[in-house]
Amino acid sequence: MHLAVVGSGYVGLVAGACFAETGNDVVCVDKDAGKIERLLRNEIPIYEPGLEDLVRRNQAEGRLRFTTDLKAAVRAARIIFIAVGTPPNEDGSADLSHVLAVADEIGRFMNEPKLVVNKSTVPVGTADRVEVAIKSVTDCPVDVASNPEFLKEGAAIEDFMRPDRVIIGVQSEEARATLESLYAPFTRRGGDRFIVMDRRSAELTKYAANAMLATRISFMNQIASLCEALDADVHLVRAGIGSDQRIGRAFLYPGPGYGGSCFPKDVKALVHMAREAGVAADVLESVEAANARQKLVLLEKTRHVLGADLTGRVVAVWGLAFKAETDDMRESPAIPLVEGLLAGGARVQVHDPRAAESARGIFGDRVLYAADPYSAAHGADALVIVTEWLVYRNPDLDRLKVLLRRPLIIDGRNLFDPARLRVLGFEYVGIGRGQG
Ligand SMILES: NC(=O)c1ccc[n+]([C@@H]2O[C@H](COP(=O)([O-])OP(=O)(O)OC[C@H]3O[C@@H](n4cnc5c(N)ncnc54)[C@H](O)[C@@H]3O)[C@@H](O)[C@H]2O)c1
Repeated sequence: MHLAVVGSGYVGLVAGACFAETGNDVVCVDKDAGKIERLLRNEIPIYEPGLEDLVRRNQAEGRLRFTTDLKAAVRAARIIFIAVGTPPNEDGSADLSHVLAVADEIGRFMNEPKLVVNKSTVPVGTADRVEVAIKSVTDCPVDVASNPEFLKEGAAIEDFMRPDRVIIGVQSEEARATLESLYAPFTRRGGDRFIVMDRRSAELTKYAANAMLATRISFMNQIASLCEALDADVHLVRAGIGSDQRIGRAFLYPGPGYGGSCFPKDVKALVHMAREAGVAADVLESVEAANARQKLVLLEKTRHVLGADLTGRVVAVWGLAFKAETDDMRESPAIPLVEGLLAGGARVQVHDPRAAESARGIFGDRVLYAADPYSAAHGADALVIVTEWLVYRNPDLDRLKVLLRRPLIIDGRNLFDPARLRVLGFEYVGIGRGQG
């Protein structure tokens, strides 16, 4: 099939590369000329495991192309995916200006009937608006479908290639059949992985999924705070409740609060949608408020031990990305932590295997960027762990203890066994691991 994917970010680039890998002819479009130039040289603007190989191979074999020329891409394609950003507006609602601008352009360049598929995360009713926008500038027949994306950054290729499910919102049998055959190579594994519904339900499904996951995180963070207050261990409580099949084991890990480009904005957008619809959004509002508080937990724990005045203190931070296996720092809990430490007068020495470049855009030269985890810990009064990168899971603790000025570890991901660390002579503070 001949496809165009408009927007070559985390979602568009991964989708485009994976569709090319299964034999389709794909043109990825972006208005960022610098990004397209880099992609043409097989330079991937984001860190995503496996993506570079996929782009390189499919570009070499002629199935994947990159361009800023939307007009040519639209004209050559039968199916056009929209995968541009939908950042939050001031009031929490999703900013649809990029999606609607692309819809307008697609309409202007249409030369024959097309299927336009929206992959961006958009409020309920956006497919209708995209359809109106296109039809207002062209007489060519257009069918608009919704196909929200569920990939996880850091495991995006795996998620796209072997999805738990593909959600399709359509209003015509033809669109359903086209998308079913496009996705057949990915959904072959059996089960009911290809789920067809109306467009509005598909749009809402994406928000409901992210809101549910965010709710689990905020719930567990609150249980962890209770564990600290009541001297219980969240590690054990998690194992105890996760064994219940109705609850399940996934996504029950307390931590420094959720971040990233999706959960925070999608919960906000859903709250906004509920308010607009006159529906109480109190569960979602609490999830968001609890998360905002949780993002300050590591800073508070550090201050609790070292004092609010951090002048003359050195604090090491391991991990800046909002989660492991990505360089994405959008809404990362590392940001309020580092900003708070700096505001308190501390010197901050950071390490992240992939996100140092993103961090420079945020912290500039106000922190020291260490080349490896041990250099970051050198001479520090505390080591705070924000991101669960594999490289932090089994460090040389003897070496770490010598390097730290004070052997204090504030572990935002509960990577270590508190008892073992205390035996080794560390002061250890986890999340929800009793009163310590
Ligand atoms: N990042 C994720 O993990 C993820 C997962 C699922 C869904 N989503 C959703 O997918 C959408 C895209 O997210 P992303 O993380 O890929 O965003 P991104 O910011 O990484 O990429 C968006 C790209 O679109 C380009 N763009 C914007 N306007 C354009 C235009 N008019 N013409 C051509 N290109 C244009 C931008 O230059 C950018 O490269 C969002 O709605 C997001 O909520 C993201």
